Amino acid sequence: MADVRIERERGVVTIAFARPEKKNALTEAMYGAAADTLEAVAANDADRVVLLTGDGGDFTAGNDISTFAAVAAGAVDLSNSQVGRFLRAISTFPKPIVAAVTGHAVGIGVTMLLHCDLVYVAEDATLRTPFIDLGLVPEAGSSRLLPARIGHVRAFALFALGETMSGAEAVAARLANRALPAAEVQGVAREAARTLAGKSASSLAATKRLMRDSEAIARAIRADDEAFLAQLRTPEAAAAFAAFAARGQQKG
Ligand code: COA
Repeated sequence: MADVRIERERGVVTIAFARPEKKNALTEAMYGAAADTLEAVAANDADRVVLLTGDGGDFTAGNDISTFAAVAAGAVDLSNSQVGRFLRAISTFPKPIVAAVTGHAVGIGVTMLLHCDLVYVAEDATLRTPFIDLGLVPEAGSSRLLPARIGHVRAFALFALGETMSGAEAVAARLANRALPAAEVQGVAREAARTLAGKSASSLAATKRLMRDSEAIARAIRADDEAFLAQLRTPEAAAAFAAFAARGQQKG
């Protein structure tokens, strides 16, 4: 599958972003593969829990910026996109999702954690949501979900100042359950996923449904999407994407 590794073991389905040479930056094909898997897992009784992670040391550097640049240039239309499908699938997913986060988690790599149920993070992971520096707005419903979780001023500093949060800070801010040495994150997350896979699937599904205000989350995602797509077409966003591309060329 397109730069996404899927593995099934004893009721635990691993979805691992697997494009390490690009820090697991997410393409439309990767979102599509992840959305296909989430939809299949939701419909299959034998699949009990999803473990979401990244291969090669990083969780994900967020949306592939070349896709953003293509949208900004009018070459790609994201209104019926795979990223939209992925966000719908993860935000309405009826079974537990456990995240194992090491290295870089940027943009959607942080905001998707707001749709997970357990989050294990490396102490030295770096979590960033630099939307304003890219001329964008928060995505995935995070304009509401992040301040609700960690407070307005902390969320604003992440969105608007582009501050970096370490794994340890993410735990203090209630964004993650435990911060661990990087080498232990996968094992601890997998153990938690296995434990959940052994519990009553109907109790877990009902509990998750009761804990989340799905209508409010869907509304927040729609509002973020609309503003995000509008911002993608601004000159500020185009300049930020061009600067990222130029950085790569200079390096090369
Ligand atoms: N989209 C496209 N390519 C990306 C990417 C992204 N979001 N993040 C990283 N890459 C690519 C780099 O262009 C580079 O490609 P190259 O080797 O062909 O030049 C490769 O992945 C390695 O990244 P590099 O920047 O060299 O690694 P680093 O360790 O110096 O920095 C990051 C890692 C994550 C800090 C840095 O890549 C970064 O800031 N990425 C952009 C994050 C971002 O803004 N995401 C969107 C949020 S909405």
